[in-house]
Amino acid sequence: MMTKRENYDIMLCMKEITTKSPEETMNFAIDFTKRLKGGEILALEGDLGSGKTTFTKGLAEELRVSDTITSPTFVLLKPYEAKIADKKIEFVHVDAYRVESIEDIKSVGIEDYLDRDDVVLVIEWADKIKGILPKDTIELKFTTMDENERKIKYDFNN
Ligand SMILES: Nc1ncnc2c1ncn2[C@@H]1O[C@H](COP(=O)(O)OP(=O)(O)OP(=O)(O)O)[C@@H](O)[C@H]1O
Ligand SMILES: [Mg+2]
Repeated sequence: MMTKRENYDIMLCMKEITTKSPEETMNFAIDFTKRLKGGEILALEGDLGSGKTTFTKGLAEELRVSDTITSPTFVLLKPYEAKIADKKIEFVHVDAYRVESIEDIKSVGIEDYLDRDDVVLVIEWADKIKGILPKDTIELKFTTMDENERKIKYDFNN
């Protein structure tokens, strides 16, 4: 259980942005890559259609992922070659929507990517696998406000 004090700390550390189109969400993602050096885990939470994959596509574009990012709904986990400046990294996209137990996600090898500074790991529906994510995971929470408006709350310090 979270204490009131912890809850307060989390609120102080979260920033938020409202986007009014998919392009604006992509642009926010492109801007967000400035925070990435390799080694980050981004935990995306939010309802169906709230913009998690759109955000992921923006990241992938800026990190020069050559393949098209699809929703790996049946694959659960998909690694891509990417780059941060001139450093080669792996961009790993996880969609945990269909994960029913931690074993499901362990069985596709997620642990191989949890502690690597040459990996950027992006997890949709990360709330389903919270138990195995490290403390310094960067959280982004997506909320649908109306047809074209999304609110994205994200960790401020990272
Ligand atoms: N401001 C916005 N930001 C992002 N997407 C938007 C926005 N406004 C409208 N949309 C639309 O909302 C949908 C977002 O879909 P997306 O696949 O990114 O969501 P998701 O959170 O990944 O959903 P799922 O949980 O099904 O994987 C797209 O159809 C997109 O065109
Ligand atoms: Mg998605």
